[in-house]
Amino acid sequence: CITRHYKFHIKLKNVTRLCHTKSLVTVNGKFPGPRITAREGDQLLIKVVNHVQNNISLHWHGIRQLQSGWADGPAYITQCPIQTAQTYVYNYTIIGQRGTLWWHAHVSWLRSTLYGPIIILPKIGVPYPFAKPYKEVPIIFGEWFNADTEAIINQALQTGGGPNVSEAYTINGLPGPLYNCSAKDTFKLKVKPGKTYMLRLINAALNDELFFSIANHTLTVVEVDAVYVKPFETETVLITPGQTTNVLLKTKPNFPNATFFMTARPYVTGLGTFDNSTVAGILQYEASLSLSIKHLPLFKPALPPLNDTAYATNFTNKLRSLASANFPANVPQKVDKQFFFTVGLGTNPCPQNQTCQGPNGTMFAASVNNVSFEMPTTALLQSHFFSQSQGVYTSDFPVIPIIRFNYTGNPPNNTMVSNGTKVVVLNFNTSVELIMQDTSILGAESHPLHLHGFNFYVVGQGFGNFDRNKDPAKFNLVDPVERNTVGVPSGGWVAIRFLADNPGVWFMHCHLEVHTSWGLKMAWVVLDGKLPNQKLLPPPADLPKC
Ligand code: C2O
Repeated sequence: CITRHYKFHIKLKNVTRLCHTKSLVTVNGKFPGPRITAREGDQLLIKVVNHVQNNISLHWHGIRQLQSGWADGPAYITQCPIQTAQTYVYNYTIIGQRGTLWWHAHVSWLRSTLYGPIIILPKIGVPYPFAKPYKEVPIIFGEWFNADTEAIINQALQTGGGPNVSEAYTINGLPGPLYNCSAKDTFKLKVKPGKTYMLRLINAALNDELFFSIANHTLTVVEVDAVYVKPFETETVLITPGQTTNVLLKTKPNFPNATFFMTARPYVTGLGTFDNSTVAGILQYEASLSLSIKHLPLFKPALPPLNDTAYATNFTNKLRSLASANFPANVPQKVDKQFFFTVGLGTNPCPQNQTCQGPNGTMFAASVNNVSFEMPTTALLQSHFFSQSQGVYTSDFPVIPIIRFNYTGNPPNNTMVSNGTKVVVLNFNTSVELIMQDTSILGAESHPLHLHGFNFYVVGQGFGNFDRNKDPAKFNLVDPVERNTVGVPSGGWVAIRFLADNPGVWFMHCHLEVHTSWGLKMAWVVLDGKLPNQKLLPPPADLPKC
């Protein structure tokens, strides 16, 4: 195991897409940002220097941060942001994880341009549980907005309405030939015939779950969220914001000069406005000398319809932990604490003397158990560590919904939320079962819920009301998929289990950025255990101050 040093200079860079040039906040002038490569067990020291006017904070999405919560990154949760001209070194060790993860800004909407892959290779000498691919290629999906995303979200929060949607989706920062003025900005993957490629798919889009497919090729899913799964074949992958998926692509033995589209477009069940465009990249076979060279037509994949919940459900049902001797599934078999959270949209009253663009003149909000999370002005982790929670947060997050919830398919009359900075406090090593039920209030949309600091097992999911008497009997406690971000299905529920073995303050939120901004977020405080390796370490000296 070694220590790897990275320098991330946050600076502006002019970038042109769709014939629009704008100044992006970037790492080292790169868009998308640089790739981090490490091995399981390595220590990372990432020095971030902020040369821009914005407050910056970076998050290493999916890294467990065992005992190193100070490096997790969500602004005002684990740290105050890095202000202009300040520096902070993110210092953490990758323990027990290998696969694809990613990093992104975790303050306001800056992650629209500040993101990049994290590739964690297995320890030296440890093979993949599948044949070694010929090549590995990160494919990171993003969203391009012609306007400044900070301005978009500020405007939306001020008027209480929905934000503008993106102009394009991107593959590795490139929108591709199906958009106007974009053909030259197309991602091309050149392949050799008869080889296996591993594509490391990452959904860094702000607000959309995506379907992804390559024409005339089948993909084999082998890993999600840096955890191996039982391999299965699929034509189309569903990937929500926050999630990562490794797939194997076997190229055909004889296809000289053939080209195929790879495309992605959203899976959306809600009624609001969204970007329904399609990003395309090109898979291109290198010429083979032994065969006559002839250009074949560009094949296009058939993606499922935009609202194909049946496809989405069928896909997620196939995901299973590998649960092998080398990679066991340590599903908590007994539960110490059970929680039932409703997740969904709601409303806040419009402030006096203001006109609001939300439903019936209200402001849009979003909540967990009817509580819309208010961001504190100082970081929760410091407040917790120094026992100074007073005036920062309260420990009375409701363990069941404030307003009793019954899913009927119709929104209730009262959509108002409560506001507060509330957390749930857990003792070290508590085994948690959490049922998350989508309310479908004001928009039947699936919510990709992301938990910081842990992987969890998805032990069950279904539609309609979660039935406490019947549904737990059907839970999979043998080989459920283990991950860090899960789609709570629109009009349905998921059940997850995790062991609270990581002391600190851990954010949980919808990874649709607009829903996070509206308050679909909360935090868990996990107390220290008794042993030295069960305690949060003290903060580093350069931890930014608010
Ligand atoms: Cu990838 Cu809190 O997020």
